[in-house]
Amino acid sequence: HQQRIHQILSTCPLLPVITIHDPETAVPLCRALVEGGVRTLEITLRTCHGLQAIREVRQALPQAIVGAGTVTCTQQYRQAELAGAQFVITPGVTEAVLDFAITAPVPLLPGVATPSDLMLGYSRGYRQFKFFPAEVAGGTAALKAFAGPFPDVGFCPTGGIRQSTAGDYLALSNVAAVGGSWLTPAELIAEHNWQGIAELAKASLAGLEP
Ligand code: 3PG
Repeated sequence: HQQRIHQILSTCPLLPVITIHDPETAVPLCRALVEGGVRTLEITLRTCHGLQAIREVRQALPQAIVGAGTVTCTQQYRQAELAGAQFVITPGVTEAVLDFAITAPVPLLPGVATPSDLMLGYSRGYRQFKFFPAEVAGGTAALKAFAGPFPDVGFCPTGGIRQSTAGDYLALSNVAAVGGSWLTPAELIAEHNWQGIAELAKASLAGLEP
């Protein structure tokens, strides 16, 4: 699982956090992101459309790698797997979810904010974590500090990251990808401006070039 999660995060340096309010927008939105070069996607279960969106996007866009986000209990974990999610992301850790995921078919990227969270996951074999909420939990300075006691751990920071700050995180050796909702602005989605979404993804990727 740890290798698979690392592989997924290494596929693309940007992981858009997607929340579907209008079910009709799920496939065109995700298609635009993929066209813009971003094919790892986190579809959150924050709305009642999340699971159906995962099902549809998996079918319509086989080249995408679709994760379920904002999973907070084992029941949602199972539902996400049944919907076809290829990985699961939680905002934090509970012992129940960490233990459940060890033998689940689909790998988990658990969310951590502190060294204690990390120790809980680390002791169970986890080596890849989401760092959330990145900006308020210490940003790049915290990730540099985590590298001391946890040199073999990788992070996907998320929470408060923007196009202009993504590169600062990706410059760290323990960060392979950063997540965020800046890639899916509500205004562009409401206007069905799929070209705008694709261009934003492209520009965000281009902005990472040295
Ligand atoms: C998440 O769940 O990862 C965050 O809500 C994304 O954070 P952002 O909206 O600040 O990018």
